[in-house]
Amino acid sequence: MKGVILAGGKGTRLYPLTYATNKHLLPIYDQPMVYYPINTLVAAGITEVLIVTGDVHAGHFINVIKNGHDLGLTHVEYAYQEGGSAGIADALKYAEDFADGEPIAVILGDNTTDADISGAVKNFKDGAMVFLKEVVDPERFGNPIFAKDDSSRIETIVEKPASPANKLAVTGLYFYDHTVYDKIRNLKPSGRGELEITDVNNAYIAENKMQWSMLDGFWSDAGTFHSLYRSNRYWAIKKLGDKYDDVCSGIDVPGLK
Ligand code: G1P
Repeated sequence: MKGVILAGGKGTRLYPLTYATNKHLLPIYDQPMVYYPINTLVAAGITEVLIVTGDVHAGHFINVIKNGHDLGLTHVEYAYQEGGSAGIADALKYAEDFADGEPIAVILGDNTTDADISGAVKNFKDGAMVFLKEVVDPERFGNPIFAKDDSSRIETIVEKPASPANKLAVTGLYFYDHTVYDKIRNLKPSGRGELEITDVNNAYIAENKMQWSMLDGFWSDAGTFHSLYRSNRYWAIKKLGDKYDDVCSGIDVPGLK
């Protein structure tokens, strides 16, 4: 399986942090954000990766990822997405030549996780697979609805529901077979003017070709100040271990518990 990291967009929700560079190059504790999805893929044995990016800071990626060898990649390619905010599914269309008929593992560049996906990578054959995680704010994500007569089957995914059916988010980690590109060609832009990855997933569900799995471990996106801070805090605590208290001692805010 090959890997695709989607790292486009303008990152407007993080202005002014993203005035000077692309969101996915901002720090998560001691590494640029995009290293984390790369690490997840490499740990699962996926070492051929395409980075899809765009907009005015696209050139910064090569300074940070270089040829990818230090990160364990054997092959890295870059693709430039026209019209920066056309959506995640639009960005994925650039992977067609790179994938060359092989299945792909797609990760959104602002998603960090310490889950081990190597078993899922080995077992994936065809169709699609989504990874779910319980969250406190499912209204910010794709939310899976399960069939009434079969609770193991996702009946549909609702993008950013006003009233979520459960506490689950469809994370930004997906496996797709080679039929994904035809599905993208058939998409229409959503209300927010984007080609939605949720519509791609619903196309697989309609063909009864969707599998799912719970993501076992930490997962967060990082596209808002809160989720960026949350991700930084998690990874700092995890990486510092026993040293965390020393590093953070003396920063108590007077008047705050
Ligand atoms: C996107 C997807 C959404 C998914 C989320 C995961 O949301 O549209 O289905 O749950 O990524 O991070 P966006 O980042 O565009 O708000």
